[in-house]
Amino acid sequence: MQNDKRPENMKRINTPELAEEFIREQVEAIRAEVKDKKVLLALSGGVDSSVVAALLIKAIGKQLVCVHVNHGLMRKGESEQVIEVFGKNLDANLIYVDATDRFLSLLEGVSDPERKRKIIGGEFIKVFAEEAAKLQGISFLAQGTIYPDILESDGVKAHHNVGGLPKEMNFELVEPIKLLYKDEVRVVGEALGLPHDMVYRQPFPGPGLGVRCLGAITRDRLNALREADAILREEFDNSGLAGKVWQYFIAVPDMKSTGVKDGKRYEGWPAIIRAVNTTDAMTATIEEIPYPLLHLITKRITAEVNGINRVLLDLTPKPVGTIEWE
Ligand code: XMP
Repeated sequence: MQNDKRPENMKRINTPELAEEFIREQVEAIRAEVKDKKVLLALSGGVDSSVVAALLIKAIGKQLVCVHVNHGLMRKGESEQVIEVFGKNLDANLIYVDATDRFLSLLEGVSDPERKRKIIGGEFIKVFAEEAAKLQGISFLAQGTIYPDILESDGVKAHHNVGGLPKEMNFELVEPIKLLYKDEVRVVGEALGLPHDMVYRQPFPGPGLGVRCLGAITRDRLNALREADAILREEFDNSGLAGKVWQYFIAVPDMKSTGVKDGKRYEGWPAIIRAVNTTDAMTATIEEIPYPLLHLITKRITAEVNGINRVLLDLTPKPVGTIEWE
């Protein structure tokens, strides 16, 4: 559709008007390219794939088939939001696959971080390819490639993305936002009417909570992590930190300590808070979360989340600690 180099005179899309103009141009270009054929998209619910989905729905409606694979490692409410926004509000042709059991049984007993990532990435491709094989008459594959992905394709991020799809799938690619920077993708997403929290959400790794449920994943610890993470996000939203801090999450290690609850011994896992700021994710500094907020989060997590009996704060900048724990 376009080549891979951003023209030097291309304006930075930073107003709704410029976004509208981009959308008009892309809708026309997509229609001209796709005609009456069908397009397939792996829709994770992340910023990039969501914006591509909304753009394609605008251009070709039900000729776009979105497949959302829930690997069971999503944050609380994420798959539900995909169904709500795309399935209901935008009336998309959406296939929802709950593959939680497949992923969690493959991951059972696996504690090595690299193996975990490989299993999650490999299985994701398998599930998606299986869904694609069930469909008839797909000619194109849409992808949420953005400009930094092209610039950094040999760099750190290359091995990261679970969304990288099998080369043997013989589709032509549709990559309508591949010349855009992240901030532009967000402006375009808002102009397309996507919810603000979807368009401005913090980065989330492809393997999801899988790399934050440290060591060998178990369902009970994964659930505890998901609930604790939801509380952290809720309190960051309430206090206004959500719009200010680059990335914040909980990690739960595979170890227990002694505690006491309702007068009884209470063994539980610790929830580790990590909140960092960065511009390029290569280095990161620590957000200074106010103590009253830390106390509130601690009180809520230990009271509301089954299995957590301590809350810890990770004060390590990158380097030396990577942003994720695994
Ligand atoms: P690290 O842990 O390497 O993370 O300091 C840097 C940034 O990359 C994100 N990250 C990932 N993103 N797939 C992704 O799409 C992944 O497998 C992955 N692993 C880490 C991390 O959340 C941070 O923003």
